[in-house]
Amino acid sequence: MNATTLYVPAEATALSLGADAIALAVAREAAARGQDVRIVRNGSRGLFWLEPLVEVVVNGARHAYGPVAAADVPGLFDAGFLQAAQHPLYLGPTTEIPALRGQQRLTFARVGVIDPASVPDYLAHGGYAGLRRALAMTSQEIVTAVTESGLRGRGGAAFPTGIKWKTVLDQPPQQKYITCNADEGDSGTFADRLLMEGDPLSLIEGMTIAGIAVGATRGFIYLRVEYPHAHRVLNRAIEAARVAGYLGADILGSGKAFELEVRLGAGAYICGEETSMLESLEGRRGEVRVRPPLPAIKGLFGQPTVVNNVVSLASVPVILERGATFYRDFGVGKSRGTIPLQLAGNTQHGGLYEVAFGMSLRELLYDRGGGTASGRPIRAVQVGGPLGAYIPESQFDTAIDYEALSGIGALLGHGGVVVFDDTVDIPAMARYAMEFCAKESCGKCTPCRIGSTRGVELMDRVIANIDRERNLQLIEELCETMLHGSLCGLGGMTPFPVQSALRHFREDFLAGRSPAPSRQ
Ligand SMILES: Cc1cc2nc3c(=O)[nH]c(=O)nc-3n(C[C@H](O)[C@H](O)[C@H](O)COP(=O)(O)O)c2cc1C
Ligand code: SF4
Repeated sequence: MNATTLYVPAEATALSLGADAIALAVAREAAARGQDVRIVRNGSRGLFWLEPLVEVVVNGARHAYGPVAAADVPGLFDAGFLQAAQHPLYLGPTTEIPALRGQQRLTFARVGVIDPASVPDYLAHGGYAGLRRALAMTSQEIVTAVTESGLRGRGGAAFPTGIKWKTVLDQPPQQKYITCNADEGDSGTFADRLLMEGDPLSLIEGMTIAGIAVGATRGFIYLRVEYPHAHRVLNRAIEAARVAGYLGADILGSGKAFELEVRLGAGAYICGEETSMLESLEGRRGEVRVRPPLPAIKGLFGQPTVVNNVVSLASVPVILERGATFYRDFGVGKSRGTIPLQLAGNTQHGGLYEVAFGMSLRELLYDRGGGTASGRPIRAVQVGGPLGAYIPESQFDTAIDYEALSGIGALLGHGGVVVFDDTVDIPAMARYAMEFCAKESCGKCTPCRIGSTRGVELMDRVIANIDRERNLQLIEELCETMLHGSLCGLGGMTPFPVQSALRHFREDFLAGRSPAPSRQ
């Protein structure tokens, strides 16, 4: 009799909820009942409220159960879950789960589906088709395809990826580098981690294509040090790709070389800023470099360097495989393709939703997220990480695309959306923005280094109702100075959460309004 295949995620969220114990319990229970099973440790589908989500393959189709606890396993066997039988935890065929069906998964198509570091499984799911195409193209043709796809950097700045690559390609032949920014420091974001834990080969393939496109033979993944699971999976996948001939001195016999290694980050938010990341990669303290020169011209070790986010690079294989037009047909305006939105905070259905640009915030928050976990009204969302604006309910019909968000003074950043209900203490959140900046500042420029500390002090005085109007005015002036006088985005964007809080929730800073009590 053939073994029944089961999938139990080995992704950090599922692991923290007991996925290892479930895998063990399934193996034990099957052995005790004389049933033959094959357990694959996959990534997460990104539906966190259903984790750990266990899947069983029956007649070639995957059926999901979740959220499963180790203690549920004997009952699941009793119910006949190896035959996809009914059970209170049964969710139906995995692809029919509404939260998955309503997504357009291009970059995350294989995440949660395949065995992450298995080259054969990757190939069986369309992997490396993009690289094969790229190997038959000229460098210029690859860069043109990426440019025409409309792909913009998913790390935060939304700069067109093809234009960045073209700058590196246009530098005279010399040692060039591809660096992947996997520092993922924004609060409430986890797309890079889910991608690296669930489908690291798509990142490796994207970096390899980037290397061939611009003439770079070496790559580095700068990985957030707090991602030990991603670290292990990435290293296994790099080794597997090397053994299979997809990395190394002669990729698939093409005569083209590309080598790749992972370097662990230094554990500071500022190390995610690209020039600071390059300093850190070179073994120095993560301090921001003055630009120009751009990293594309003088980057790692003074050489032309591509710096791209994980999601940007992992989106390249599907663009090469299916064509620029296929990719750019998703999205709206100048925001082409798909974006993995990460819903977190006080939400019922937190997780990752890869959708075409253009969905409204309201649809994400209510139709997908199901409102707050607390059951109270949503009062604000912070979009784009700790430096993103607070958006009030009156603006929830804004489309999620780069231009629409910037039109209301917000930014999409890396796609994190953190939800707050009406118990949120907005002045405390505004204070936190300044405090975060003070703690994470690299110290190179005065508006950020000194301004953020003064900002905390001013906010303390406002909260303590000391000369409130005057101190609020000083905060506004300080924000203008930081906005226009900071050397990089940390000091330059810290005003966004503060100014948006003051603009949309002014009353919270005035009459000593206290937030709604958190308990009814
Ligand atoms: C303070 C600060 C922190 C940043 N952190 C990250 C990060 O963790 N990951 C990331 O990809 N980009 C981060 N960025 C953006 C990078 O500087 C850069 O724009 C990005 O890595 C370029 O890749 P992309 O074009 O593919 O987005 C940060 C920027 C700033 C100002
Ligand atoms: S804005 Fe802050 S983090 Fe950026 S260079 Fe200036 S001091 Fe450093």
